[in-house]
Amino acid sequence: MITTSSELQAMRRVGRLAARTLALIGTKLAVGVSTGDIDRWVREDTAKHGAKPSQLGYHGFPASVCTSVNEVVCHGIPRDDVRLAAGDIINVDITSDLNGWHGDTSATFCIGEVSPEAKHLVETTRLALEAGIAQVRPGAHLGDIGHAIQALAEKAGCGVVTDFGGHGIGRKMHLPPHVSHVGRRGDGMVLREGMTFTIEPMLTLGAPETRVLDDEWTCVTVDGKWSAQFEHTVLVTRRGHEVLTKPGV
Ligand code: MF3
Ligand code: CO
Ligand code: CO
Repeated sequence: MITTSSELQAMRRVGRLAARTLALIGTKLAVGVSTGDIDRWVREDTAKHGAKPSQLGYHGFPASVCTSVNEVVCHGIPRDDVRLAAGDIINVDITSDLNGWHGDTSATFCIGEVSPEAKHLVETTRLALEAGIAQVRPGAHLGDIGHAIQALAEKAGCGVVTDFGGHGIGRKMHLPPHVSHVGRRGDGMVLREGMTFTIEPMLTLGAPETRVLDDEWTCVTVDGKWSAQFEHTVLVTRRGHEVLTKPGV
């Protein structure tokens, strides 16, 4: 819960920082870039702005950013020997910690020409995040967000991952509540002005079931079909919402 103007300013600052780092990475992605390169760029840019990568060391996570390619749903670990190829899709998930406040945002990028199916998946996931965000206002229910995302995804023929969700965020990266990306209108917690949480739908071209690899982090689809994700950190305002990780501000 954000209650003072200095807290609001802190959340706006870190949200803008995470968004800018993500945009910077977006300009650098190309065929031949390794996910290890992305990790170094995130670490350097975050440090340059006096912040820390929230994910580094989080429950032992070994890197500063999650890089999730193709069938990887989330929590992909950057590696120097994983290089992007034309036709790949990659989610880059950045969480920054500025003065103890956290901002969390991710986007899925297409490398070169991708298949029409992959393009459809990425575009649908982007729209699903927007549909979820559009529900956010005081008095709305968490279930309204999940419902909007699920309805849009199902109409487009995409699966919605339910093994992970959005989360409250502020002085910690992960706080209650759990923000499900499926749901029913009118179900769940009532939103109030000052709440900050993420919405971060993961959609799939096949079934939404996931499993975690032996590295204990990398989460992939069970059927090997591709997955995309977009994420924003959102504040409930008096009249609706403010996206704290909006690109280009
Ligand atoms: N940024 C991720 C999220 O959206 C957190 C990943 S936790 C990590 O919630 F440890 F894998 F980095
Ligand atoms: Co998140
Ligand atoms: Co994230």
